[in-house]
Amino acid sequence: MIDDTTRDQTPKIDISRLEKADIDGTRHMQALVWQDHFLKERGQTVSLLFRSRQNIEYYMEKDGGAFFVAKLDGELVGSIACHIWGKIGWFGPFEVHPKHQNRGIGKMLVARAVEYLDGEGCTTIGLETMSTSTRNITFYSNRGFEPRKMTYVFYKDLSQDNPDKPDSTPQQPRKMTQDDLPLLRKVWNDIDPGLDYTAELEALDKHDLGEAMMFEFVGGKGEQQDDRFPNHAILHSYELIDGSTNTILKLLVAENTDAAMKMLDWCERRTVEMGKRGIFLRSYQGTGLELADFLKQGYALAGVQVRMMMRGKEENTERAHISCWSG
Ligand SMILES: CC(C)(COP(=O)(O)OP(=O)(O)OC[C@H]1O[C@@H](n2cnc3c(N)ncnc32)[C@H](O)[C@@H]1OP(=O)(O)O)[C@@H](O)C(=O)NCCC(=O)NCCS
Repeated sequence: MIDDTTRDQTPKIDISRLEKADIDGTRHMQALVWQDHFLKERGQTVSLLFRSRQNIEYYMEKDGGAFFVAKLDGELVGSIACHIWGKIGWFGPFEVHPKHQNRGIGKMLVARAVEYLDGEGCTTIGLETMSTSTRNITFYSNRGFEPRKMTYVFYKDLSQDNPDKPDSTPQQPRKMTQDDLPLLRKVWNDIDPGLDYTAELEALDKHDLGEAMMFEFVGGKGEQQDDRFPNHAILHSYELIDGSTNTILKLLVAENTDAAMKMLDWCERRTVEMGKRGIFLRSYQGTGLELADFLKQGYALAGVQVRMMMRGKEENTERAHISCWSG
């Protein structure tokens, strides 16, 4: 429920769904927030980085998603995006205009997001934030979220990659189809009960975000085609930030570390083929992949996030599962 005490202190705040007419205003407000954040937290002056319209429209229109904005006397002062993967609900990005921070607007937006995710039947509700931000960790702890494990943010610069290096992907992957979905839903549910990425696959097509691939490796557990684990990945090649020259590995599920590394290798090749510079991915600690696995593969640690949960069990799988709760 929305905290009425807070509402009394900020009586003119109105929280509503983001409408198309406010997309550019939201992008501008978000860019100002992060410019201000880098200056205050790191003493760095950075230019304004705008999320792409494509990114905002994808979040607004994703099945089960909701993008809320806060307005003060009609002026857009904050926003929060909610995402639902089956029974798993999380939010981000989340920003309040620097001029209006510490006035209770952030609390109202989080309360609205939680109310929404709860109303949609999410049994897990959480978010990921910068592990170095004592301010944010305090903010969320005071709202009932507990810190859990870390999510590592990795980047690999492929601009110097040797184009002639041997291909470790024994079979070329094929595009995922609707027919793959029943088995994939079972695999996702085994990783985390209630987890379902169907909305991401629909958004991928609708917003032309990238590609979803199936990798079938001979030598996996099953001898027969039907017994093979359905290794799969979603590689985003659209621009999340205007002008970005990187891809983002949105999802990867693999039978084991070896298969995951072969799939990463393919994603890197694909990134180079598309003329992009590098690849980003975020990996949560509760899965079969370790920090060292990525470092060995040539990834640099670009940041550490902490997952904070209000409700829900900790994901704990031996499968290689690359995903994150970060918008
Ligand atoms: C995080 C953010 C959205 C919060 O919005 P906000 O409108 O400023 O938040 P509120 O005014 O509702 O609440 C601010 C809380 O932070 C606390 N706070 C402020 N500065 C703090 C500091 N330096 N250390 C610890 N707590 C601090 C306030 O006391 C208040 O908490 P309390 O009422 O529980 O005591 C906003 O600060 C922001 O946009 N930050 C930059 C982007 C960002 O970090 N987004 C979240 C990524 S997960």
